[in-house]
Amino acid sequence: MKYLNIALSKGRLAELSIELFEKAGIDCAVLKDDSRKLILTDEINKIKFFLVKPSDVPTYVDYGAADIGIVGRDTILEEGRNLYEVLDLGFGKCRMCVAGPVELKGKLDSIPNKRVATKYPRIAKEYFQHKKLESIEVIHLNGSVELAPLVGLAEVIVDIVESGRTLKENGLDVLETIAHISARMVVNRVSMKMENERISILINSIKKQLAVR
Ligand code: PRP
Repeated sequence: MKYLNIALSKGRLAELSIELFEKAGIDCAVLKDDSRKLILTDEINKIKFFLVKPSDVPTYVDYGAADIGIVGRDTILEEGRNLYEVLDLGFGKCRMCVAGPVELKGKLDSIPNKRVATKYPRIAKEYFQHKKLESIEVIHLNGSVELAPLVGLAEVIVDIVESGRTLKENGLDVLETIAHISARMVVNRVSMKMENERISILINSIKKQLAVR
């Protein structure tokens, strides 16, 4: 039997993905070892797990190096790849928002030629340029995006908000919500056809687990 390759997002989502897979009857013991191995194999179920940076999950799945991926909807929207999004896993919930200084509440549209700092340039452009038909300058950062409006690098940010604590502690607030985010299961288009039976069984057993939550 061919191995089924599953790419998991390292970090926040990995633990919750493992928990869900175990409840769905997949032995994830290999994923719990303190190992530096990049491919972790479950020989009984013929599954190979890859732990990769979240933003790389859609790439592995799009090219077919992974049949299945678990990744946040934020990354799916940002990467814009041609994947089957088959399940909302219901964890990793947060919002993609436009945020900025509290004083800008209700005034976002009145700022011309805004500078928008973000880790998500595609989502920011899509929202401001295509949806709101506004011309903006996107400033691409790799983290701690909330700092940008505090030091005059940008007027606003586009970022994920989970508890809202980072915004609050820095005098910022949500100005607009762009999208609701949660972890999703994505499948490669060819794998969906070639490995349909195995993948469908896996999807259905995860669906059952999600239903009993
Ligand atoms: C994310 C996000 C926000 C923060 C939101 O950052 O970019 O900064 O979490 O969470 P909160 O609403 O619960 O405060 P992350 O922790 O991934 O670090 P980063 O800023 O380095 O990207």
